[in-house]
Amino acid sequence: MRNTCSRCETNIYRIAYENNSQRRLNGFGWDYSASKSVVDIIRANNLSDRAKDKRALDLGCGDGRHIDYLRRLGFKVFGIDSCKEAIRLCRDRFRDDANVSLKLADLTVRDSISALGLFDLILDWSVLDHIRKKHQKAYLNNAFNALKHGGFFILSEFDRSYPGLFKGKNYRAKNGSYSCAFTINDLIKLLKPLELVDFKEGALEDEINNYRFNTVLMSIHNASYLSTNDQVN
Ligand SMILES: C[S@@+](CC[C@H](N)C(=O)[O-])C[C@H]1O[C@@H](n2cnc3c(N)ncnc32)[C@H](O)[C@@H]1O
Repeated sequence: MRNTCSRCETNIYRIAYENNSQRRLNGFGWDYSASKSVVDIIRANNLSDRAKDKRALDLGCGDGRHIDYLRRLGFKVFGIDSCKEAIRLCRDRFRDDANVSLKLADLTVRDSISALGLFDLILDWSVLDHIRKKHQKAYLNNAFNALKHGGFFILSEFDRSYPGLFKGKNYRAKNGSYSCAFTINDLIKLLKPLELVDFKEGALEDEINNYRFNTVLMSIHNASYLSTNDQVN
């Protein structure tokens, strides 16, 4: 895979993860430990009680902070990222853990995860909000198709209601990176036919840049997946 990918802005992440211990000082403000909103939602909905031997997928896993959290809960965790440096960090970090598997892949490419089987829990912490609109459906289809019936999908994305974000706009394209933001309702609409189970609104999860996040816990009940007509190739 090329190291600079127009779909997934890999180059920006290469810069972040090449120097991961200095990452936050360099303005890449997401934390080194698991997101509080993710931890709270997992606890509040007793998802950790059912973790033993269940399969979790961390989309855009970065340096593996959520892989670490989920494996400690008992999940068998799969982490995928399009950035070589992120996967390299995770391979080092989890090399002795047989319950962690990793894959380098661009998640907007159709079937990039279809060979991995189905998952009980899928997590996306600030990945969808870095995917350009024209690729979002393809990305979400990949995730939906990997979710078990009755499985859970947690997404935590930039909060569009927060007026300070991106100077009042709902997206920003700058220096080769793309970011966009969502309200809780935007996420619910985008994730149909999944149903909302729980949410946390406007949590300050990047204190360096003062970015707030909306987190939703969605589930499939009797849903049929997005129709093939909706898929973007
Ligand atoms: C803001 S970081 C968040 C990292 C991680 N989820 C966390 O909570 O620390 C976004 C991550 O998504 C990854 N990413 C962005 N676009 C991607 C794509 N199309 N396919 C796979 N990974 C992608 C980046 O490489 C980066 O690691």
